[in-house]
Amino acid sequence: MKLKSLNIGRLTTNNNIVLAPMAGYTDDAFRSLAVKLGAGFCVTEMVSAKGLAYKNENTRELLKLADNEKATAVQLFGREPDFLRRACESVDLEPFEVVDINMGCPVTKIYSNGEGSRLMEEPELAQKIVSECVKSGKTITVKFRAGVYENELLAVDFAKRMEDAGASLITIHGRTREGMYSGPVHYDQIAKAKEAVKIPVIANGGIFSVEDARLMIERTGADGVALARSALSNPLLFAELSKTDSGMTLKDCMFYLMDLRKASVPDEVVAHAMRKFCVQILKGVRGGKEAKLKIFEANSTDRIKEILNSVM
Ligand SMILES: Cc1cc2nc3c(=O)[nH]c(=O)nc-3n(C[C@H](O)[C@H](O)[C@H](O)COP(=O)(O)O)c2cc1C
Repeated sequence: MKLKSLNIGRLTTNNNIVLAPMAGYTDDAFRSLAVKLGAGFCVTEMVSAKGLAYKNENTRELLKLADNEKATAVQLFGREPDFLRRACESVDLEPFEVVDINMGCPVTKIYSNGEGSRLMEEPELAQKIVSECVKSGKTITVKFRAGVYENELLAVDFAKRMEDAGASLITIHGRTREGMYSGPVHYDQIAKAKEAVKIPVIANGGIFSVEDARLMIERTGADGVALARSALSNPLLFAELSKTDSGMTLKDCMFYLMDLRKASVPDEVVAHAMRKFCVQILKGVRGGKEAKLKIFEANSTDRIKEILNSVM
């Protein structure tokens, strides 16, 4: 796919390859790895606007930035325009130029709280959220889905509303809430939304290879692509897409994450946190199953390195 920079408010990115937000995964270390491999724009995992207001310590942990991050948005979720605007204005968000609002999360707990993808069913409230957040002076972007139900696709109308309300970029996950993470990706919805708005549109959903990214752009005309699960199973896809010569292997990626995290977190905690990342890259590796079991018993990063060295 063709590389180009994105203009997101006052921010200009190096390219149009985006690391999508993933709760529990896209922390500062993982984003640092994505940047090293050539990602042009990254998004933190979703952060509760209320958690920020109540100065929740775990919430603030999610706001740490790595040294090499120059183009990272913080993603907020919530439903009260006022709370979200105040979150945008809080000192905690000072390091972030761009705030992404989550309007796509399908998880029942979030949806039934009226947050995430539920906001697609309340478009006026969704617009109010964006226009309030814009008042904070931050650049506001929105991530949403093709719709909530398969028989009621509404990305085009929603995209226009987000633009009208002042959003500077939208990311569209081509699946509906009903489709969760495995339903069909509605390329036509992304394509029509792209035609309907002037702001940059990032296409997301089911991109696991260079060819998938090329097809996504061909089918939608989107300005860039966002990778989620493929970033976990094959972070080197960032390097392939961005034509970055990182010289790294998948194993090096895991070592990079461990070494970075060790600078601020006790070794045993890092070892435990690494389990879910190692599981992802061991898929399809000969001896991977046994290695996974051993990694689940490992209590040090040295031990994890030893296990990875034995199979990769
Ligand atoms: C483990 C996991 C956590 C996620 N967390 C978030 C999140 O915090 N915010 C968000 O907007 N989307 C979140 N998503 C959705 C992804 O950003 C993305 O839209 C979705 O996985 C489709 O892209 P993919 O097919 O490339 O995985 C999450 C997805 C996964 C698999």
